[in-house]
Amino acid sequence: MIKEITVQELDANRFIEEKVEEIRAAVGGDTAINALSGGVDSSTVTMLGHRALGDRLRTVFVENGIMREGEAAEVVGFFEKLGVTVEVVDARKEFFAALDGIVDPEQKREAITQTFYKQVFGRIVRESGAKCLLQGTILTDVDETVAGIKRQHNVFEQLGIDTQQAFGYRILEPLIQLRKDGVRKLGKALGLPEALFDRIPFPGPALAARVVGAVTPERIETVRKATAIVERFLKDSGAFQYMAILHEDRVTGMRDGKREFGLQIEARCWDSVDARTASPTRLSFDTLEAMAGDITEQVPGVVSVTYNIASKPPSTLEVV
Ligand code: XMP
Repeated sequence: MIKEITVQELDANRFIEEKVEEIRAAVGGDTAINALSGGVDSSTVTMLGHRALGDRLRTVFVENGIMREGEAAEVVGFFEKLGVTVEVVDARKEFFAALDGIVDPEQKREAITQTFYKQVFGRIVRESGAKCLLQGTILTDVDETVAGIKRQHNVFEQLGIDTQQAFGYRILEPLIQLRKDGVRKLGKALGLPEALFDRIPFPGPALAARVVGAVTPERIETVRKATAIVERFLKDSGAFQYMAILHEDRVTGMRDGKREFGLQIEARCWDSVDARTASPTRLSFDTLEAMAGDITEQVPGVVSVTYNIASKPPSTLEVV
């Protein structure tokens, strides 16, 4: 049983000191790797890891082909300013090959997990000689996985999976007692800029969590373009998280006076504190309408945009 540390209980500086010691003790004289996606959790763990290990921590951004527009360059740029070198590893082919033909949500997540941890990180760890991977799993990831709701891509030990056996390295999870609000407080204390510690959450399975049905480079490109528009419109909404989703359904639309049996994008925008429960943000109709206008104009093939008005539960934040 993991003991939760609430944001009220969290003494960020003491927590940092304790975790720095724990990470140093666990890594010993070896080197470690960490996977940075640029999300709040992995950015915070990157700063914590560098405080503990300095140059003995190698930070890698995996370009899996399912990230948002310009994400790799943006994340590398942010961390350069913080004095952290981020290495970009191109694994696009491996991820799309692993996702080929899969439509079931849990199988998609499993394909991403295996590609990420076994193939890509397995290889990096073997080549580098590192003994462990540092990652930003948080308590909410564990809760929902253990409850059997959704298997979060980054949860192993609590499912009885020995990562040393399964992938050939250990995984250290210094944030596992925290929830998102606690991680933000910690990230701030570690010197992350607001643009990073206050960034909206983005899931490990990335845009693949936002495509219903087949995940192909073309379908990812559609949801990527729609995501950029949704994020641009809602960045000042104050919402916890917002996203675009590509559905499998085709709907009749019209363009240039002709019938177009087109694609449908769903926009979601959530009010939440810790992602355990959430309700749809009461966005203005003007915002929704303008956003829908840009999506149908700028994303090829899209003729319909909907806005989700259900809460979690029974919805979940992501669609896959
Ligand atoms: P759900 O969809 O379960 O999402 O309501 C709750 C929060 O977790 C994020 N999320 C994930 N994060 N690996 C992660 O690291 C995952 O597999 C994953 N799935 C969902 C989601 O974006 C939301 O903030």
